[in-house]
Amino acid sequence: MAAQEFDVIVIGSGPGGYVCAIRAAQLGLNTACVEYEQSLGGTCLNVGCIPSKALLQSSEYYSHTLHDLAKHGVKVEKTSLDLPTMLKRKDEIVKGLTGGVAGLFKKNKVTWLKGRGSFVDSTTVKVVGAEGEVTYKAKNIVIATGSKPIEIPPAKFDREQIVSSTGALKFASVPKHLIVVGGGVIGLEMGSVWRRLGAEVTVIEALTTILPGMDLELSKGLLKIMQKEGVSFHLETKLVETRKANGEVTAVCQKADGSTVEIKGDRMLVAVGRRAYTEGLNIEAIGLKLEAGGKVPVDEHYRTPVAGVWAIGDVIRGPMLAHKSEDEGVACAELIAGRAGHVNYEAIPGVVYTWPEVAAVGLSEEAAKQQGLAVKVGKFPFLANGRAKAFGNTEGFVKIIADAKSDRIVGAHILGPNASELIAELVVAIEFGASAEDIARSTHAHPTLSESVKEAALGVDKRSIHI
Ligand code: NAI
Repeated sequence: MAAQEFDVIVIGSGPGGYVCAIRAAQLGLNTACVEYEQSLGGTCLNVGCIPSKALLQSSEYYSHTLHDLAKHGVKVEKTSLDLPTMLKRKDEIVKGLTGGVAGLFKKNKVTWLKGRGSFVDSTTVKVVGAEGEVTYKAKNIVIATGSKPIEIPPAKFDREQIVSSTGALKFASVPKHLIVVGGGVIGLEMGSVWRRLGAEVTVIEALTTILPGMDLELSKGLLKIMQKEGVSFHLETKLVETRKANGEVTAVCQKADGSTVEIKGDRMLVAVGRRAYTEGLNIEAIGLKLEAGGKVPVDEHYRTPVAGVWAIGDVIRGPMLAHKSEDEGVACAELIAGRAGHVNYEAIPGVVYTWPEVAAVGLSEEAAKQQGLAVKVGKFPFLANGRAKAFGNTEGFVKIIADAKSDRIVGAHILGPNASELIAELVVAIEFGASAEDIARSTHAHPTLSESVKEAALGVDKRSIHI
């Protein structure tokens, strides 16, 4: 029997893959998506963005109840943690959303090919699933297989004591002392969750700052706040060995000055980055050579060097962010359909869901200077914002960086309450090539946190009103 044929087969159903498949189907292409996990949605929905945000929210409520509500005149006599309910709620959210993707596939007539997909040749995919091995043909194949946590020799995952982000989402009890290797996004988010739930947390970071690459004022500001919350940090410290004995895990670390430090805990989260995931794809069969670091090479239109084979998301260059993958998925589907598809990499926001949150888009002040760009900077603290005072969350600030000559916004950085939502205005501003004055002249509702964005824009021209 001849193999069933599709216009497009997407391999992987993460935010890049499933969005690409839906958009391709919307454009009238007969589309299938291969996924071997029991549920669609990839890392983001199953073991990444969504479950971590569920736990961040729940742990925030717990921490606010313990530490902040009394300041609002709300007395809670007895607060206790029900971790199984918290974890169950997280799992239900994941179930609902992944089921939602399956529903979207049905609605858009995307065929879910259940099983592990691999290349036979550049137009043939083999899917090995519960029903055995089936081959399918497609004019276009999109690699959207995402990424996996990096495992380092001094700390091999044992999935119980030494875990990746996946394991840190389902500890059955609150660790006494959680050692976090890596002061990046995952380390700080998951470290925050377990700190709020009562664990002692120590973060080991190899570089001089947490969140390397972020605007320095933000990473230094967040470091101070997290230290105040009781998280310990060892900067310029590298994990070199891990020892396990009697339920304890000891991190042996080397400091930049050559000295050694030993940290004892009961659980360890290793979050030192992720790597492109292409194992089992049999890309050798199509003669595709990976870039250094294991990424799939693509041109600016997501075409690999092999005709008809495309790639998007974590598996290609650029930041490993769900929203970057989604937008690439849409652009790639549109290009396959013969339309124009484009992603503006200068306007991709990055968010860290700590408390307060960190959000950024465009250039940091350091990067702007490195590029030799003359810039003006406007800043406004939440301490001077009425709504932030009413909330009782006044830490942090908004920082807007504009080209000194044209006033065009080239970067925006927020450390503070709801930074993840506030950044959207500045993403649109960069997308539209707005000047700081454009934001400064736009009316922002009062009283809102967003007035701090307007005030920072006014600050670019040194004319903020409320400081
Ligand atoms: P990351 O790249 O953000 O941070 C890893 C950190 O580990 C770096 O600061 C690095 O200097 C440090 N490090 C590396 N080796 C070390 C060693 N041996 N000892 C001590 N420190 C060491 O990677 P992370 O946090 O694992 O996240 C992976 C990816 O997932 C990132 O690309 C991130 O953007 C993405 N992600 C995004 C989220 C968001 O958008 N909110 C949430 C979670 C993950």
